[in-house]
Order: sequence, then structure tokens, then C-alpha cells
Amino acid sequence: MMQKSLHHERRVVNGRLCYLVPRRGHRERGMAEEISRSLRSRPRSIHPKFFYDRRGSELFEQICGLPEYYPARTETGILSRIKGELSGLLGGDFRLVELGSGSSVKTRHVLDVLHGSQPAVEYIPIDISESLVDSSRGLLGRYPGLSIVGIIDTYENGLDLVRGLGGPRNLVAFFGSSFGNFPPGEGARFLRSVRDSMGGGDLFLMGLDLVKERGVLEAAYDDAQGVTARFNLNVLERINRDLGADFDLGGFSHHSVYNEAEQRVEMYVRSLRDQRVTIPGANLSLALEEGELVHTENSHKFSIPQIGSLMGGAGFEILRLWQDPGAKFAVLLLARS
Ligand code: TRP
Repeated sequence: MMQKSLHHERRVVNGRLCYLVPRRGHRERGMAEEISRSLRSRPRSIHPKFFYDRRGSELFEQICGLPEYYPARTETGILSRIKGELSGLLGGDFRLVELGSGSSVKTRHVLDVLHGSQPAVEYIPIDISESLVDSSRGLLGRYPGLSIVGIIDTYENGLDLVRGLGGPRNLVAFFGSSFGNFPPGEGARFLRSVRDSMGGGDLFLMGLDLVKERGVLEAAYDDAQGVTARFNLNVLERINRDLGADFDLGGFSHHSVYNEAEQRVEMYVRSLRDQRVTIPGANLSLALEEGELVHTENSHKFSIPQIGSLMGGAGFEILRLWQDPGAKFAVLLLARS
């Protein structure tokens, strides 16, 4: 069902589940080059896709269960409430393609809809994290008509593989507030690339976090139990493991702040003292000053009018926009305009 890729290896779990992973060496080289470039440039940064090693994915699941982290449960609430309506809007068979599938908790609501009206459902989760395999395995028992081809790679590389597949129409899903993690220009380009990967009858279902009071936003990204801090700092541990670096985690802290003018929560790791870090795998030795910030993620928040112009500009028609009663979060159903 999927075109061959020279960069990927196909692993078969069982008759209903297989997945594609980048060939050995390919991924490590990419990571070393990217980390080396972004840590040397100013402001220093680490790309958020590197959060999601196994431990990072686990910590993110914990974040999703925190009282302060409203996005996950609010979006899940919207999805569970719109199932009946969504079923009517789809009106026919679809394959589900999901970007950043994570633990596939939200996916279940969409699979409930598809599985409820078609005997067989193809699901293509695309995620940077290997935890995709366990999440996918967990779905097989629940949906007897389901077959899964996972792609462990970036959204961009995954979408390239999905382009032009025959068979049923694609329902592309993109949940979480992950869209908010793109810088504005890249976000617009990403939407264009999703649109260009879609055929005429394909649909796009996505979640977007909305602007709200500073206090709610800052608590969501700096919880009382310190799970968010552990998640953010885990990226340093991952670089230690994968690139042989010697980040001392005790020498860094989590820092997050809502930048109201830019409508985004900004996440950093802060160096607590003057220190030197060596990263042999990236051929790098870094001198960090006390108080120096390394940027790890932005999480942009949107207003309804902004969403309208963003989607219009990317060539999408908004078929439906749902919000929770508290207007914290939005879920959109989009078609090519
Ligand atoms: N995509 C999630 C978001 O923007 C990721 C996230 C949640 C995150 N909490 C975080 C990233 C804390 C870094 C630090 O909501």
C-alpha cells in the first residue's frame, strides 16, 4: 500500500501491523548535524522533535494527565462529543493518516467513527517516536478491522510517503497543540504541504490551542509536580545518550514564560552556572554562561479570526470549527478550497 523508500526499512510486527523506520546511521547523522548547528547559533536552541525518545514520550503522556495541562483533556473532550456529527460529515470510507500520533488516545475517537461505518480501516500513524509501535499494537485488539502501517519519521518525510496512495480517501489528523510549535512562517508552509499532499476528496482534522489568560497558560507549561520541568530537561539526557555528551542535569533548570505580543509560551533550559559541555557525537564543545538560555520550544496560541486567515491563506476551507464550552481549544475540519 505504500511506495518504496530507500531511506526506510520495513519491519513487520504481525499480519496487521508493520512500520517503516529510517535506516541506521541516517537518523543519527541528521541529529548530530542539526544539534551541532542549532547549539552553535544564537540564540541557541534544540529542536522540539528531539524531546520524544522513550522517556520523553512517557513524560509527555504524564503531562497530558496533569491538572494544569488543559489542552489534552479539552481536545479529547471535543473529539468525544463530535463523533456523531463527524460521522455524518465524512459520509463514506476513509483511511486515517495521523501526524504526531503519540499514544493514540485521541485517535481512538476517530477510529470509533470510521470503524463504526466501514468494515476495514487503514491507519497510517506518523510519529518521530518509536513508541508509535506500542501505541499501534494497543489498537489492534480494539478494532478487528484495522490494519496499520506506521512511519517513524518527521511529518514532512511521512507525508511524502503517503502522497498519491490509491484506495479510499485520506482523513489526515493532527492533534495536540503541535501545530503551535512551528515558527509562524514554517507553520504556513507546513499547512501548504499538508494541503498539497491531499486529493480533492481528502479531509484534514486538526486541533489548535486558543489564546487565553497568562496564568492558565503559564501553569500548563510549568506544573506544580515538576513533570514539565523533567520533560524539558530530558532532552539534555537524550543528547548525552545519543551523542555522548556530558550535560550535568543538576546544572540546568526549566524556564517557561508567556510572550503575549507573540502569543506563545516559550520554553528554555537555563544554565545555572558557567559551564563547559562537550558533545563528541556532534563535534562540539560549548561554553555556557550562568543564566544563559537554550530555547527548546514555542507553543503558539491562536484567536478564531487568526485561524480563519491562516487556513484561508493555506488554501483550506473550514467546513466546521468546534470549541469546548470554555473556548479553550478548537478542533477544525478542513477541505481543500
Ligand atoms: N506540543 C505540546 C504543546 O505545545 C508540547 C509541550 C507540552 C511541551 N508541554 C511542554 C514542550 C513543555 C516543552 C515543554 O503543548
